[in-house]
Amino acid sequence: METKAFFESVVNEYDDFILQVVPTYPDLIWALFYYLPQDLNPKHVVDLGCGTGNITQAVHHTFPQARITCVDEASGMLNQTAKKVDPTHLNFVEAHFNDLMLPPERFGLVVSNLAVHHITDDEKQALVKKVYDWLAPGGVFAISDGFRAKDEALHQRELDLWGELVLDAGMDPKDWAEAEKHRKAHDLYANDRDFCQWCLEAGFASADMVFRKGVWGVIHARKA
Ligand SMILES: C[S@@+](CC[C@H](N)C(=O)[O-])C[C@H]1O[C@@H](n2cnc3c(N)ncnc32)[C@H](O)[C@@H]1O
Repeated sequence: METKAFFESVVNEYDDFILQVVPTYPDLIWALFYYLPQDLNPKHVVDLGCGTGNITQAVHHTFPQARITCVDEASGMLNQTAKKVDPTHLNFVEAHFNDLMLPPERFGLVVSNLAVHHITDDEKQALVKKVYDWLAPGGVFAISDGFRAKDEALHQRELDLWGELVLDAGMDPKDWAEAEKHRKAHDLYANDRDFCQWCLEAGFASADMVFRKGVWGVIHARKA
C-alpha cells in the first residue's frame, strides 16, 4: 500500500496506534520543543506531515499567537487536525513534500515529527533546501524522526531495542509483526550525520542532534 493510502486508512486509529508503535513518541515531542532556542517567538509556523494534529496542538500551546500552516498529503489527516486545534489559527495545504511550495523567508519555525522518513534521501535533501528558503533569518527547522546510526551494527541494535520497548509496553507480537511490515515498506531513515550535513550545505548556521533514543532522534537546525 502507498504511504498516502496507508495513512488515509488509519486516520481514526492513528492516535492510539502511534503511541503503541512508537513508545518514545512523548519523549520526542518533549525534546522537539524543550530544546528550541529560548528567544524563538515565531509568528508563522509550518508543521510538515501534521497527521492528526498532535504537533500542531503542541505548537499552538507553545506559541498561541502563531499562525500554523499544516501540511499533509492525506486529506483525512488534515480533517483530524482541524478538529484538534481551532482552525482559525491554521492554514491547510494538502500536498506531497516534493510538490510543496511556500513563501520564502516567511516562517520562524518549521517543525516535523515522524514524517520525513517517508521520502528518499535525495528527496529529503531537496526538502531541507526548501525549508531553508521558507525560514526567516533566525528561524529554526526542528525535526524528530527515525535516523540510522553511524554504522549498521548499531542501527540493528537500535531496531532491536525498538522491538523490546514495544513488546515490554504490552503490544501483541502479531501486531508488532504487522507494524514491522509497515516499517520495512514505508520507512527510509537517513543517517543522522548526513542529515545534519545536508542542513549545513543548504546554508543553516548550525545543525545538531539534540536528543536520541534508539532509532528515534531530534535534530534542530538554525538559520543565521
Ligand atoms: C507517522 S505520521 C506523523 C503525524 C504527526 N506529525 C505526528 O507526530 O503524530 C506521518 C504523516 O506524514 C504524512 N506524510 C507522509 N509522507 C508524506 C509526504 N511525502 N508528503 C506529505 N505528507 C506526508 C502522512 O500522511 C502522515 O499523516
